Amino acid sequence: MTDVTSRVASAAPRLVDRNTEFHRVVFAAAGDQHCSAGDATAPEISADRRSARCISVSRRIPDRTPCGDCLDRIARADAAERALVGRRIVRFMTGMDRPRRLRRTPAVRRLVAETTLRPRQLVLPMFVADGLEEPREISSMPGVMQHSIDSLRKSAVEAVTAGVGGLMLFGVPRPEDKDATGSKASDPDGILNRGLRALADEVGSSTVIMADTCLDEFTDHGHCGVLSADGAVDNDATLHRYVEMALAQADAGADLLGTSGMMDGQVGAIRRGLDAVGRTDTGILAYAAKYASAFYGPFREAVASSLEGDRRSYQQDPANRREAIRELDLDLAEGADIVMVKPAMSYLDILRDVADHSPVPVAAYQISGEYSMITAAAERGWIDRRGAILESLMGIRRAGADFVLTYWATEAAHWLS
Ligand code: PBG
Repeated sequence: MTDVTSRVASAAPRLVDRNTEFHRVVFAAAGDQHCSAGDATAPEISADRRSARCISVSRRIPDRTPCGDCLDRIARADAAERALVGRRIVRFMTGMDRPRRLRRTPAVRRLVAETTLRPRQLVLPMFVADGLEEPREISSMPGVMQHSIDSLRKSAVEAVTAGVGGLMLFGVPRPEDKDATGSKASDPDGILNRGLRALADEVGSSTVIMADTCLDEFTDHGHCGVLSADGAVDNDATLHRYVEMALAQADAGADLLGTSGMMDGQVGAIRRGLDAVGRTDTGILAYAAKYASAFYGPFREAVASSLEGDRRSYQQDPANRREAIRELDLDLAEGADIVMVKPAMSYLDILRDVADHSPVPVAAYQISGEYSMITAAAERGWIDRRGAILESLMGIRRAGADFVLTYWATEAAHWLS
């Protein structure tokens, strides 16, 4: 043993005995797994307690041999103990621990950064509007356009060249084309399907094309589904429309379908519908947790929404956290390939929960209101635009998103490459 290790080792029991933190470390290192040989002296205690006990017994009685399975865990616990105690001794000697050492230079900060933000982790939502000759700026989202088919193609090339991970397309039909069932949503010549075909043609081999699979832009009442006689959104009748819409979008070249309507059973219905016609390669990006949010305001202008009232009978109540896991479990059971949380910034706790539970990739949608807030504050000179954008995206990544849908995708991708 070197001087330092022997000093640490001899100091350890004294420090450790007073240290509950340490006991947690030992317990965590012991894990909750079964210690197969166990502790013969205590056959009555449960398996996971036995392995912790096995460790502590072997510590107290040096010549007692712990079971084979536990040797590993003991080694790990000892390493954790030494690290912890070592740091404490340094602090005792100097009176101070100095985390700033790892923040001192850009190089060391880069070396120890825990979270990455890369162009491929950004997805650009885009709007294509029927009957437009020129792109039209959305007034509540300065810098974001309703595209013509031509400008959609150009802007998609720009995004893909900048390195974004994918594109999510929304369609804006002419007002006179909206009806009660949103029939243009499943019409191959509807604006969204035409837009998808243009994207597939222009950039299809070099990116991931996603389609919004929801009726709200296409219905004259603006709801995400069809209505029953009493005016409520009819869940199961809506599922039939979603399947028709999904098939049209798959035909048009969408790789992933974004199920954003929050109807019960939508992922399963669409999965079955796709499989029945052999579209087993088309994936589902399920909006697992989608909350009824005031921050969708600017989007409603972006898609010229006809909605009166609200979506609280299908989108989730912002008060609920546990419910997000229920929605996640259902979407997974129904066949979701990727799950999403939306909005992002006011729901980072939900995103963390979902990321901790999900066996499939997790996305987050930084929505229109989040874009507009930062844009407006930056326009007034109240915050630094670039800094705020990158920090917001990093925060969403850190909370657990594998990728982020953001209206800044192209611009941020340029900054990041
Ligand atoms: C509804 C839909 C919404 C958004 C995308 N699709 C929300 C809504 O209108 O309730 C919001 C996107 C954004 O705000 O950026 N299908």
